[in-house]
Amino acid sequence: MERLTDIHGRNLAYLRVSLTDACNFRCLYCLPDRHPNRQPSGDPFEDQSLSIMEIENLVAGFSRLGFRKIRLTGGEPTLRGDLVDIVRKIALVPAIQTVALTTNGHRLAELAAPLREAGLTAINISLDSLNPRQFARITGSRDFERIHQGIQTALRVGIEHVKVNVLLLRNFISAELDAFFEWVRETPVHVRFIELMQTRDNSPFFHSEYLPGDDLLARLEGHGWAERMRGPLDGPAREFTHPGFAGRLGIISPYSHPFCKECNRLRISSRGKLKLCLFGGGEYSLRHLLQSPDRQEELIQTVFSLMKDKQLSHMLHEGIWGSTRHLAGIGG
Ligand code: 5AD
Ligand code: SF4
Repeated sequence: MERLTDIHGRNLAYLRVSLTDACNFRCLYCLPDRHPNRQPSGDPFEDQSLSIMEIENLVAGFSRLGFRKIRLTGGEPTLRGDLVDIVRKIALVPAIQTVALTTNGHRLAELAAPLREAGLTAINISLDSLNPRQFARITGSRDFERIHQGIQTALRVGIEHVKVNVLLLRNFISAELDAFFEWVRETPVHVRFIELMQTRDNSPFFHSEYLPGDDLLARLEGHGWAERMRGPLDGPAREFTHPGFAGRLGIISPYSHPFCKECNRLRISSRGKLKLCLFGGGEYSLRHLLQSPDRQEELIQTVFSLMKDKQLSHMLHEGIWGSTRHLAGIGG
């Protein structure tokens, strides 16, 4: 079995695959006017999201490179009618240990059981507020109750890891923190607060809403929350536990505590482009290599040869966000 390592010595084992860049929400920090802003290339092959066959070939190839964790992202991946089948195919690839999904949760109540049955082991739901009206203001969606029920269903049907992503927004979060702390007292979810990242399309919003995670970190440390050790397949969150709480709290801070030196991931866009880093760092289309299992060797060699280009870190501190207009096409 191969292991994929980049020139900075980081072992890569975690692949994030975007299934579509469409989304039915319009979060203020991502797609406020609901348009992915992507110019069609005019080539119908290029403009379609990866098919289930292409995804199967992709995951089979990456599993031979030592990848063990696949996360399906969007846009909103539950907009795809074949999501459960995609999960089932991936879960059957022998080397894959974790099949995860990031979703806005609007179809979770009906999908949680079939997804679990198909082999999904982890789910991240984006939920920026526990107050339905505030939630609607941030996301443009009135689905709060359904999403909340979906989270309860995911827990009930026994999806192993249920996590909730909450954006740290300066003018919204202070009214929310207590409610999230109370929620995890009884509910076994992992809530992770994420520092807002600047993209090409959200600059004014970023400047009014960015809030560093430091105050929250101090609050956790001052109230008896203990930091957990990271596992090799873990993402960038620092996670904290407390004996009196069923759930966990975490912080993802690309600015105040950059995590790039532990980066273990690569990304595939919904159009089959390999992205070496969330922000900048180049895109390389692998799509022609996904058309048949016979091209697996070539796929593996191509990915190997691209590793020399994986940069050491994003350059968000310098205000450089590469070609990233928003995170809808590559799922955060
Ligand atoms: N900064 C930080 N997180 C973002 N997400 C989307 N856009 C941004 C951004 N600019 C997050 C969403 C969701 C995940 C898919 O990515 O909140 O949890
Ligand atoms: Fe890895 Fe790039 Fe994300 Fe840093 S910003 S963790 S290098 S993908």
